Amino acid sequence: MRKPVPFLDLSQFPVDLKSALKKKFGEMMDTGIYSGGNELTLLENKLKELTGSAEVIPCSNGTDALEIALRVLEIGPGDEVLVPALTWVSTAEAVYLAGAKPVFVDTDTSGLIDLKLLDTHVTAATKAIIPVHLYGKMVDMKALNAWAKSRNMNVIEDAAQALGAIQEGRSAGTWGDIGCLSFYPTKNLGALGEAGALLTQDKKLAEKMRLFVNHGQIEKGNHIVLGRNARMDSIQAGFLNLKLEYFEQWQQRRKAIAKIYLEAFFGLELTLPMDILGENHNAHLFVIKSDRRDQFAEILKNLGIGTAIHYPVILPRMKPFGDSKKYPVAEMLAKRVLSIPLNPWMGRRDFETVIKMVKYAYSKTS
Ligand SMILES: Cc1ncc(COP(=O)(O)O)c(C=O)c1O
Repeated sequence: MRKPVPFLDLSQFPVDLKSALKKKFGEMMDTGIYSGGNELTLLENKLKELTGSAEVIPCSNGTDALEIALRVLEIGPGDEVLVPALTWVSTAEAVYLAGAKPVFVDTDTSGLIDLKLLDTHVTAATKAIIPVHLYGKMVDMKALNAWAKSRNMNVIEDAAQALGAIQEGRSAGTWGDIGCLSFYPTKNLGALGEAGALLTQDKKLAEKMRLFVNHGQIEKGNHIVLGRNARMDSIQAGFLNLKLEYFEQWQQRRKAIAKIYLEAFFGLELTLPMDILGENHNAHLFVIKSDRRDQFAEILKNLGIGTAIHYPVILPRMKPFGDSKKYPVAEMLAKRVLSIPLNPWMGRRDFETVIKMVKYAYSKTS
């Protein structure tokens, strides 16, 4: 019988990775250190090396990273922040949590904030913009930074999905005043729980953020500003350090599978992520577009192929945001996008099954 292919099943890590993680867990228990410590310093250094960022501050998760970024840039009540209409909820949620107002901007057809529309959304209250590198594809940061600079606006990069992507030699997360990473378990570099990081090239901002994530504490018993507990668990840092050893090889594997998919689906009337092999894309998600997306997904489900939708509802339409303006491109994408399995642990049989079944679903829906 044919083996089902889940969209992503994190219990299916390869045996060698699982045993390395178990060993690591044992070693960390033997140290008795669960907060702070060497693993965090090591992670900081490894992420600096990987991204080229001058400063890296590990933190509790990507959502907190976004909120902290806004807070240290002193963006709050009365301020507006431009965000794309199609993204994970955190991007706009963090703006609300900081007390500011998210102002939604429609996307281009690849799901990235549409730079051509930015000017029409700017008011005297606009203080920042949060570009999201959706699915792992980078926004044109050179153009966005130039635009933001000319309007004296801060840039907070939501690079939660984009670790490993590079534009003109600079990593995702290092272009903005602050870059935010997520190590949510499903990301290309995923913790075994929640974790994130803040990147900046500015020493002063880095100091502020280090204080903020740790109750404003500069030394034991001395709290010089108010902050909160947004520290990353030492254990997650340890797991991430171990997984970072595999990161480059996993990235190559993602790209190799993405290439095979592109070749296999070429000629079908599905919109394919043709730019997924570029350096400015980390192949986080392989997103196809179909006019009959729901029917397509249902057929695949019945054939044992897991899929996911990133995302079925645009943020302005969600209850907390309650914005009924039109975002035609983002709305069109929300109806058509479908992510098919793409992860470095897929074997040949898995991706060949996906190819066969996608072709079958295509024949039934076109
Ligand atoms: C685009 C985007 N922004 C922000 C986040 C928030 O990250 P986290 O889940 O670590 O809070 C995520 C991940 O879930 C994301 O995909």
